[in-house]
Amino acid sequence: MPELLLQLFTPFFFFIFFLLPLFFFFFFLALQKNHKKVETHSSTTATAIPKAYPLIGSYFAFKANNNRRIQWLSDAVLASPNVTFTFHQLLGEKSIITANPATVQHILKTQFSNYQKGGNTLTTLSDFLGAGIFNVNGENWKFQRQVASHEFNSRSLRKFVEVVVEAELNQRLIPTLNDSQSQSKTLDFQDILQRFAFDNICKIAFGFDPEYLTPSLKDSNLTKAFEDAHIISTKRFREPLALVWKMKRKLNIGSEKRLRIAVSEVQEFARKIVREKKKELKEKASLDSVDMLSRFLTSGHSDEDFLMDIVISFILAGKYTTSAALTWFFWILSKNPRVEKEIMKEIREKSEGVRVYEEVKDMVYTHAALSESMRLYPPVPMDDKDAMKNDVLPDGTIVKKGMSVAYHVYAMIGLSFDLKGG
Ligand code: HEM
Ligand SMILES: *[C@@H]1O[C@H](CO)[C@@H](O)[C@H](O)[C@H]1NC(C)=O
Ligand SMILES: *[C@@H]1O[C@H](CO)[C@@H](O)[C@H](O)[C@H]1NC(C)=O
Ligand SMILES: *[C@@H]1O[C@H](CO)[C@@H](O)[C@H](O)[C@H]1NC(C)=O
Repeated sequence: MPELLLQLFTPFFFFIFFLLPLFFFFFFLALQKNHKKVETHSSTTATAIPKAYPLIGSYFAFKANNNRRIQWLSDAVLASPNVTFTFHQLLGEKSIITANPATVQHILKTQFSNYQKGGNTLTTLSDFLGAGIFNVNGENWKFQRQVASHEFNSRSLRKFVEVVVEAELNQRLIPTLNDSQSQSKTLDFQDILQRFAFDNICKIAFGFDPEYLTPSLKDSNLTKAFEDAHIISTKRFREPLALVWKMKRKLNIGSEKRLRIAVSEVQEFARKIVREKKKELKEKASLDSVDMLSRFLTSGHSDEDFLMDIVISFILAGKYTTSAALTWFFWILSKNPRVEKEIMKEIREKSEGVRVYEEVKDMVYTHAALSESMRLYPPVPMDDKDAMKNDVLPDGTIVKKGMSVAYHVYAMIGLSFDLKGG
């Protein structure tokens, strides 16, 4: 009997586990080729909850809106009951995206331990992030978080503002802008701010100066590699089946080949920073300034791979967030001359140019404008977690173990106040 069953089932299993995936693999490869065409064609798709079909879910609507993913999901979330959207993906897979304040609190606070980084997230990002803070849970996360938290106490922040940012401003950012004005040269301001943020974060966290914002504005292989590694890794999430990128990785083709090259360049850079810091610590008995990397090293962690991962996660954490925040801020200021004028007035009134850190704290209007800009254009518009166990969200949505549950910060701007209150 078992043999007969086996005979019957072998072709069936062959079909399910081999032919079907293979079919999907080429199907999606082909889809990717047509990708550009679909994108431009449908950037004006109506805003609402996308229809979900058996097997394919809302895959085609998702694909068609790939170039406005955040806005599209925001529209779907805001149109959903209780502003929690259940997104139907391929082969019956579901994920949840919410803008419901009670649910956000549930995920990030009250049920924090149930919403961590799950297996899918971990494997998708591990080539790039390894065991860095963004890609670990539990004790390892806690340890990294604890060491990193020193970076955000007021003494570190003061040093950040008074020493690092001040020098980067006076020696690099302002001269660059001044030059461009006196030579009537156009600058890509987002690029400038990314360079600014990259230099700052490396200096504050590792005591290392990459000199990326220099007058020549040279392309740096490193930041290009960083960009590639970041973009390709996160695009893996948008692959309808993880199998597709996994096979591309196995075959070392296309984007996965580029990823491998980019990651090894980034790792080489991070490793160099770690080695130099180790040498420096050995040579000097006491340090005049303690950066985060030194703190990790002196807390008994000397494993080079681990420290390399920490360095990479930190650059990622600091670079895109601050530069996105600043880019949106200056963009929105350029559209609001009245606010710009108020800010200029406040800066003139409150700065004596000596106690920069205290002066900045007094600039309440500027602070409010920056906060408002980040509310309207959150630098991290969406963030994903994975459910460790089955759960029911405060808005009534049922969550199954392993499901991805994301909170959509950008969508939350669209909430009415009575929902916020309740
Ligand atoms: C405007 C600036 C920034 C924004 C909007 C921002 C936003 C965020 C968000 C949304 C998270 C994820 C939280 C979560 O998943 O629960 C995060 C995590 C983190 N950020 Fe930032 N961030 C900013 C600047 C920075 C800077 C400058 C640094 C480092 C110097 C930094 C270091 C980190 C670290 C280490 C984590 C991981 C924390 C953890 O997993 O516990 N961030 N940030
Ligand atoms: C700005 O550029 C002008 C002309 O190139 C120069 O004379 C001036 O010193 C510069 N100012 C700053 C703050 O760099
Ligand atoms: C940067 O990359 C280019 C092309 O990949 C290479 O020719 C060049 O030597 C690299 N430069 C540095 C400084 O690594
Ligand atoms: C909305 O949330 C309430 C609980 O706050 C729940 O009773 C209700 O069923 C939810 N509505 C939908 C359509 O999910």
